[in-house]
Amino acid sequence: MKIAVTGSTGQLGRIVVEELKKRVSNESIVALARNIEKASGLGVETREFDYSKPEILVEALKGIDRLLLISGSELGQRTQQHSNVINAAKEAGIKWIVYTSLLHLNDTTLNLAGEHIETEKALKASGIEYTLLRNGWYSENYTASVPGAIGGGTFLGSAANGKISSAARVDYAEAAAIVIADEDNKGKTYELAGDEFYTLTDLSAEISKQTGKNIPYNNLAEEEYANILKNIGLPEEFADALANWDVSASRDDLFDDSRQLSRILGRSTTTIADSVKIALS
Ligand SMILES: NC(=O)c1ccc[n+]([C@@H]2O[C@H](COP(=O)([O-])OP(=O)(O)OC[C@H]3O[C@@H](n4cnc5c(N)ncnc54)[C@H](OP(=O)(O)O)[C@@H]3O)[C@@H](O)[C@H]2O)c1
Repeated sequence: MKIAVTGSTGQLGRIVVEELKKRVSNESIVALARNIEKASGLGVETREFDYSKPEILVEALKGIDRLLLISGSELGQRTQQHSNVINAAKEAGIKWIVYTSLLHLNDTTLNLAGEHIETEKALKASGIEYTLLRNGWYSENYTASVPGAIGGGTFLGSAANGKISSAARVDYAEAAAIVIADEDNKGKTYELAGDEFYTLTDLSAEISKQTGKNIPYNNLAEEEYANILKNIGLPEEFADALANWDVSASRDDLFDDSRQLSRILGRSTTTIADSVKIALS
């Protein structure tokens, strides 16, 4: 039995490979990467795999039974890219695909939903058995702003009082490894998020507590927040996207209280306080 992991050189994929090694033999794991050199330290078989090169995908999937398709990072290209992978998986005889989708996909107002909806449709149409890991937000998306908040004396955002149930990237990665290692997860859809929610005011209070500095939350209009992000050097599109995702967060799009992630993990998810601690260390 062979399990292949796409995006194995990414932040999530690297942890998934390490977590898989704890559960199945190294010989059962194939790390798929568009840049094969980046995958060289993973300690498992590596194969070249670029979602945008359909001509190499079938060969790369030969002999693979289970595929973890980690959604790509090139926004706007992902529907085509994921469909290339699913078509190749069908041709290569893959028996089961686990896909990292988006939390509450059918109800969310997050503008990231479209490509995930199309990918879920393609999976359904493929006839291959599949499992959906509808991942919520990584806590790191917010704790990345901790140094900036300390420097500027305030935590900026547009999420108002939105409830955010994020979990650490490592939580989602470990869950992905657990799920794909066990065939009983075939056909399931999991809505994955952190156990406890917080608002950005709560997060600012936690940063203040841990640093001993007063760092209040400053809620801004979407455009104002995006402009500040651009002024500090973020690419225009990314700044607009971050501000827009925060507005979705203000509508509780990142909230979930089903605790499915901790049930899969058999432990609590990483708290936002611990994620702040890691960001400060
Ligand atoms: N839930 C969340 O909060 C959240 C946040 C950010 C992203 N995401 C999604 O979750 C995915 C994994 O997260 P992450 O933190 O690991 O992101 P990441 O560090 O940016 O990793 C993305 C991975 O996808 C690979 N990739 C991108 N385009 C590809 C292509 N055309 N062909 C093959 N591989 C390609 C990258 O390869 P290289 O190593 O060569 O670049 C990398 O390995 C992201 O790609 C994105 O879809 C979720």
